[in-house]
Amino acid sequence: MDSTTTEPSSTAAGTTTAGTAADRGREAAVEAALGRLDLTAKVALLAGADMWSLPANAEIGLGRLVMSDGPAGVRGEQWTPDDPSIAIPAPTALAATWDPDLVRRTGGLLAQEARRKGVHVVLAPTVNLHRSPRGGRHFEAYSEDPLLTGEIGAALVAGIQAGGVATTPKHWVANDSETDRYTVDVRADERTLRELYLAPFEAIVRKARPWGLMAAYNRVGGHSMSEHAELNNGVLRAEWGFDGVLVSDWTGARDTVRAALGGLDIAMPGPVTVYGEHLVAAVRDGRVPEAAVDELARRVLRLAARVGLLAGAPAAVPEPPADVDGEALAREVAARSFTLVRNQGALPLDPAPGSVAVIGAAAAQPRIGGGGSAQVFPTGVVSPLAGLRAALPPSTALGYALGADPAVHLAPLAAPVEAVLLGSGGAELGTAGLPDGGVRWIGRLPGGVGFADLRAVRITGVLQPQTTGVHRLGIRGQGRFLLEAGGRTLFDGEVRYQGTDPAGAFLNPPEEVLELDLDSTAPIELTLTHSLSKAPEFAGFGMVSFALGHGAPVGTEDELIDEAVALAASADVAVVVVATTEEVESEGVDRAGLALPGRQDELVRRVAQVNPRTVVVVNAGAPVLMPWREQVAAVLLTWFPGQEAGAALGEVLLGIREPGGRLPTTWPAAEADCPVWRVEPVDGRLDYREGLFVGYPAWQRRGGAAPAYWFGHGLGYTDWEYQGLDVRLRRPGPGEDPYAARAEAVVLVRNTGARTGRETVQVYLAPGGADPDRPDRRLAGFAVVEAAPGEVAEVRVELPLRAFQTWGADGWTTRPGRYTVEAGRSVADPRATAVLELPDGG
Ligand code: BGC
Repeated sequence: MDSTTTEPSSTAAGTTTAGTAADRGREAAVEAALGRLDLTAKVALLAGADMWSLPANAEIGLGRLVMSDGPAGVRGEQWTPDDPSIAIPAPTALAATWDPDLVRRTGGLLAQEARRKGVHVVLAPTVNLHRSPRGGRHFEAYSEDPLLTGEIGAALVAGIQAGGVATTPKHWVANDSETDRYTVDVRADERTLRELYLAPFEAIVRKARPWGLMAAYNRVGGHSMSEHAELNNGVLRAEWGFDGVLVSDWTGARDTVRAALGGLDIAMPGPVTVYGEHLVAAVRDGRVPEAAVDELARRVLRLAARVGLLAGAPAAVPEPPADVDGEALAREVAARSFTLVRNQGALPLDPAPGSVAVIGAAAAQPRIGGGGSAQVFPTGVVSPLAGLRAALPPSTALGYALGADPAVHLAPLAAPVEAVLLGSGGAELGTAGLPDGGVRWIGRLPGGVGFADLRAVRITGVLQPQTTGVHRLGIRGQGRFLLEAGGRTLFDGEVRYQGTDPAGAFLNPPEEVLELDLDSTAPIELTLTHSLSKAPEFAGFGMVSFALGHGAPVGTEDELIDEAVALAASADVAVVVVATTEEVESEGVDRAGLALPGRQDELVRRVAQVNPRTVVVVNAGAPVLMPWREQVAAVLLTWFPGQEAGAALGEVLLGIREPGGRLPTTWPAAEADCPVWRVEPVDGRLDYREGLFVGYPAWQRRGGAAPAYWFGHGLGYTDWEYQGLDVRLRRPGPGEDPYAARAEAVVLVRNTGARTGRETVQVYLAPGGADPDRPDRRLAGFAVVEAAPGEVAEVRVELPLRAFQTWGADGWTTRPGRYTVEAGRSVADPRATAVLELPDGG
């Protein structure tokens, strides 16, 4: 449970208490460099030179500093598949492992990817809370619980930074939903902010010492987070000792003076920002003291020095750690995150079933990650279908049926295309080869073409139809398009975006679909030309994004379901993979509801009616409703599993690996039961009026409907008996470290099953006495343990001082008295309890 500290501690003033000679050397080099810069040069350090980087300064030996998203892999400076990355499972999956050691190793892989791509800062982890299941970026955050979020987040930061690469835990703070995200004003009382939303950031800052943090778009208590002097300079820096940089979310810096005085070090992206000449002018006319700019520039130089970009300053990590096998780790994490919520003896599968029916669009094309800035492009994806084929013996007959396809947009043409960039008068400015029909250029164009010169982009590819019949071609994007097939014009007109989020046209563009009769023997050339009346841009940076989509002929929806049911009826086992879509789970929009899109619920029900051994695999990053869950033999949640999706699934279904996940968030049975549903602000404000009652504390307090599956729930392939729980007080630690253990729970668990397994021992703390303002119980610690059949494992779980504290008018107060300690398999499944008396005075 401890997170490695990679840097020395710091003082309230934001200067490091340089512990080692290297630390002192780094600070001295920073001061020397700062002393050589005039006002304009210092200000130049504080804003993006382009979409992803800060400018170099040769005079002081400062290199160009590159940042990149994000939590599920390191995308680099391109937003296209031609610069591929290892796609690890999405953040909810990382949290479902409940294993900080594994997450730290995963951070090491992200650092390795960052170094390979010339990236110095990874814009991760996302540590906002799962306040409502409707949050569009739910898949990108960890949990409804602040302790679990903080532990997983600190582990990822420690892992990345141990590789010499900086992190920016985000989005500081209360960016827990997407509706009106640029302007929404979150209102929460101080206790709620401290105990829930600030808590993961505090744990990460104090334990893992991130070298950066990203300010959220939203406001808190009326102030934009990029200008929030009280939280940025007061709480984060003075109180917690954060000495890293605070970077704006992209386009999130709005006011020169308020941002500079509010402690925002870096305005991204560039080159058009509220800093630059505006900040120079503000200093010259006395609105911002130059000392404030020095403080911002000092922190940017410190960041550069830490990542090895400032001449004469020793990097924080002189030698990168040994290489990690990325594919193997992505597979291990996926399997360890898969959460088996129901199993009526169906899993693991018989090692050599006679026949298996694999059903569902996502079985052939899984969703490996959520939409938006967390997106990365791997070199390849192992589908569930391919993974199962590889894991099953050749004697097993494997059949596939689509069943139901929830996709509302066509996939980009799966063939290489040639892109030609055209200037005025149709002059050819440059060309680029793309792996498929998707074009996505942000901040820079191929071949160094300038956005101001670009007037059109033409892509050409050859479609080789596999089936004769009516094919669909899609134009996905916004603006003017001309689509030609075999020299014939199919569309010449405008495609318009109807949404309101300014980034939505890019993250979630509209689509025009055309139909075309094709013959499987005749390849056809397709050309899509996108004309631009003026240089395309969003908030100062250029951007071109559109796609040529393709869909092969398919039967009617009824026919597809009938085919799948017939296949299932004839097979020994049916594996149905259901999924959300890009429209349902993505940055930029919140979810309208939690039902699986399309006719997938009907598909599952009908398959289960004909095959008693129906295993449902849920490929979603956030809770979905599963009204059929009691009618199927097993339900396995695989989250957004990254590129090794099917490889991990094959191993888990066959029992080669055990599913290791436990729910990081409670899964509701019905929408109406969710304790927090609304994410729409009223008059610009989003009131967190439920206070501390978010997630399982809210479900437990209501005493009404039970959820489908509780926080912490998850089954393995063996059984466990909790044989004892002993809780001891520890001596209060020196100083006031809230994360020092104040007590320790020693739990004895015995593997009573027939195979080696892994158990996630969860320890909850329930305060005595009736206090309606305090949750009944809260997670206070956890540990993962492995044991062979019959073996008894002794698990030690530290309970930090903070677990015994609440926030009040006098700040953090330790609450003495009688606590019940519960050790168990979920928040609602205690297996052993003990009583702990915390003496007066803490
Ligand atoms: C997101 C950030 C992301 C940034 C850069 C923003 O829209 O909110 O999480 O890091 O874009 O892609």
